[in-house]
Amino acid sequence: MTQIIPPAAPEKKQRILSGIQPSGTPTLGNYIGAMRNWKLLEDQYDCLYMIADLHSITVRQEPAKLRAQSIQMLALLLAIGLDPEKNVLFFQSHVPEHAEMSWLLNCYTYMGEMNRMTQFKDKSAKHADNINCGLFTYPILMAGDILLYQANLVPVGHDQTQHLEICRDIAARFNSLYPNVFTIPEGYYSKVGARVMSLQEPTRKMSKSDPEDCYIAILDTPDVIRRKYRRAVTDSDSEIRFDPENKPGVSNLLSILCALTGSSMDDIVSTLSGKGYGDLKNAVTDATIEVLSPIQERFNQYMADKAYLESVYRQGAERASRLANRTLSKAMKKIGFIPR
Ligand code: TRP
Repeated sequence: MTQIIPPAAPEKKQRILSGIQPSGTPTLGNYIGAMRNWKLLEDQYDCLYMIADLHSITVRQEPAKLRAQSIQMLALLLAIGLDPEKNVLFFQSHVPEHAEMSWLLNCYTYMGEMNRMTQFKDKSAKHADNINCGLFTYPILMAGDILLYQANLVPVGHDQTQHLEICRDIAARFNSLYPNVFTIPEGYYSKVGARVMSLQEPTRKMSKSDPEDCYIAILDTPDVIRRKYRRAVTDSDSEIRFDPENKPGVSNLLSILCALTGSSMDDIVSTLSGKGYGDLKNAVTDATIEVLSPIQERFNQYMADKAYLESVYRQGAERASRLANRTLSKAMKKIGFIPR
């Protein structure tokens, strides 16, 4: 008797979910440290990228600006090359399961756990006039974002490590009460060296919430890019050397140059040996413009085609909702709610 061996089931791709808030144009740091890597994941993983508009309202937003920044963020995701067929691109607020899941998880999270979140402490110091409950429970909304999609991997910056830990804790607690509901996710951190620092205070991370001079925005024009680098902090000696501890400003410019050109640090330092900081700044300016210009061009094309953008986010919300609903229904049933 011949035995028929069934073909191996195609291996299920691991799922990736990440979120980005539509609060202002992302910086070069966001691009190098996070966004550009997303493109590299699209064939190997099953990816969802969410524009985290619900998270944005934990600080006050101007309605027209929130709307504009949200649609711009979608255009940018497309402009960096994400294929909307391969990646599910959607607005968090279009998938009501996020808000619902957030409530459920609120009831499985302890005050003590939330009280330890360092980002809440930082943000409430910064927004002392608006320390709302959403700011406090922000990590629970984020946990729901991830758990709804049974994500295996979550690409985030190190500032989100604590939020990811709490997500894992909540998921494990829920699973121990009601088995097999959530996949426990893991952080997916891009390689070291991708950390881009402020141009004015190079010991701090480049952030779009700092004054304009501190960061390059992905949509900055060549003139603005040139001016910001020209004003970037260096130091009082003149040696071009990679030494983040003693020469944070110069080292930051060197790292950016490395990241953008793909050359090794040794090669970059040796090409610049004997040259001045002005040359370093010119080199990093040119490299930045070269990388950002094509993105900006595509961004403008997408922004001019609102109908296309709409078709992308509608389709994205539909696909996301289908997945999210499966998990939400399962969790609700296990808790004891009457199925709808
Ligand atoms: N909190 C994240 C940030 O500010 C954004 C975010 C929201 C997110 N939901 C997420 C990131 C889910 C990863 C997974 O950067």
